[in-house]
Amino acid sequence: MKLFGPKAQTISSPPAPGKIPRINGTTVFGVRPNSPLVFKIAATGEKPLEYKVLNLPQELAVDSKTGMISGKFSKEGIHILKIRVTNKSGKAEKELTIHVGQTLALTPPMGWNSWNAFGESVSQEKVKAVAQTMIDKGLVDHGWSYVNIDDGWQGARNAKGILEPNEKFPDMKGLSDWIHSQGLKFGIYSSPGPTTCLGLPGSWQYEEKDAATWAGWDIDYLKYDLCSYKWDIFDKAGDTSQTAWMKPFLSMRKPLDAIPRDIVYSICSYNTIPWAAKVGANLTRLLGDNRDEWMPISTSGSKIDKYWAHQRPGLWNDEDLLVVGSSGGWEGKARPNHLTPDEQYFHMSLWSLLATPLFISCDLAAADDFTISLLSNDEVIEVNQDPLGQPARLKINTPEYQVWVKELEDGTNAVGIFNLKNEHQNVTVKWSDLSINGGKVRDLWRQKNLGKFTTEFTTEVTPHGVTLIKISR
Ligand code: GLA
Repeated sequence: MKLFGPKAQTISSPPAPGKIPRINGTTVFGVRPNSPLVFKIAATGEKPLEYKVLNLPQELAVDSKTGMISGKFSKEGIHILKIRVTNKSGKAEKELTIHVGQTLALTPPMGWNSWNAFGESVSQEKVKAVAQTMIDKGLVDHGWSYVNIDDGWQGARNAKGILEPNEKFPDMKGLSDWIHSQGLKFGIYSSPGPTTCLGLPGSWQYEEKDAATWAGWDIDYLKYDLCSYKWDIFDKAGDTSQTAWMKPFLSMRKPLDAIPRDIVYSICSYNTIPWAAKVGANLTRLLGDNRDEWMPISTSGSKIDKYWAHQRPGLWNDEDLLVVGSSGGWEGKARPNHLTPDEQYFHMSLWSLLATPLFISCDLAAADDFTISLLSNDEVIEVNQDPLGQPARLKINTPEYQVWVKELEDGTNAVGIFNLKNEHQNVTVKWSDLSINGGKVRDLWRQKNLGKFTTEFTTEVTPHGVTLIKISR
């Protein structure tokens, strides 16, 4: 196997999933009335697993071998499904709440995006190999579900104005069908401008045609990236009003609404606060492109803390793709990651605390064990997927370390103690400084109880590393 990324494991090496079933991934899911439900129960444990919904609504069916739930609701409402997963070692049960209404993405979407891995060289074959790895390496069992093609799929418009994929995507519908047959979801990319950031055709003045093409491919997700709309249209018009900013995103919102399928709308305009909700966005990009460098990773959290109140289930502040595993696809070729293992733990922990959408963007088919384990820790992922949807707040910010606190739905708190220094340091945190109650402390990366700490907690944090804990009564 080709190795990308650091070989050495740090002190934070997560334990491998056990034999007994464990149900993972989101516990709340939004679907619109009359839209097909696309949901696969994520569960680990020794295979084969048997999936069951004990109180299956009559509108739904569940495949006992794959855990895929399908069907359609005709009316708005809330359905609490009791899920059971069994194997020869035992069973797990968990509730999944389905909200049939108008809000999608009730927890941050999780999946893979092609950009950092492949840039413009993305192809059908590469996307399929990555999706196959998501299945083979068990990432789907931890809740990773979207397979999203970024810039680089577009060919030219034909005589009817329909944008066709380029020669690297000989059968887009076939690819989509295969992705869906695996219980995964399929995403596409475009720009509201005449061209995308790569200079390929964008959707400007072809919004309805493009939406119809994507409807034909059964897409579940659209990343809509400002790119040339800014310099070709917006800047030339000289109108900087909110209405002018919203216009291109509303032009695509309308045809998306007409598609009888749920499509998560991820907008990148870098200026969306506070109007993202008004254009029906589910994700809104706040910062520029992430790089596998210490500075953007260590500083992006403090840059976006002030936007915390704009985030809620169904509308997530998007801190951009995860830069773990191979990187540099934007330069045309994937290469080993420049972040140390500790910096990658830092990155994954911060993104989880911030409740930002989690998109892996490395060549997963070539990922090493370190990368896979980093992306497979269910207790860390649960922090990100917590249904309350609160982003962590920066409670202590010194040049040496930061402490972030995320309130969770069950009344507990997740706390990240991040070391900004190049050397080990001991950090002592007083719970009163974080305005939380002390109690039992669990190390989430190691999945280990550390004991009871009523007033304060001291931890040794590795250089550029993190201690990620959960505190409960
Ligand atoms: C911009 C976006 C990236 C990626 C590229 C594609 O740079 O910020 O995430 O989508 O465009 O060209």
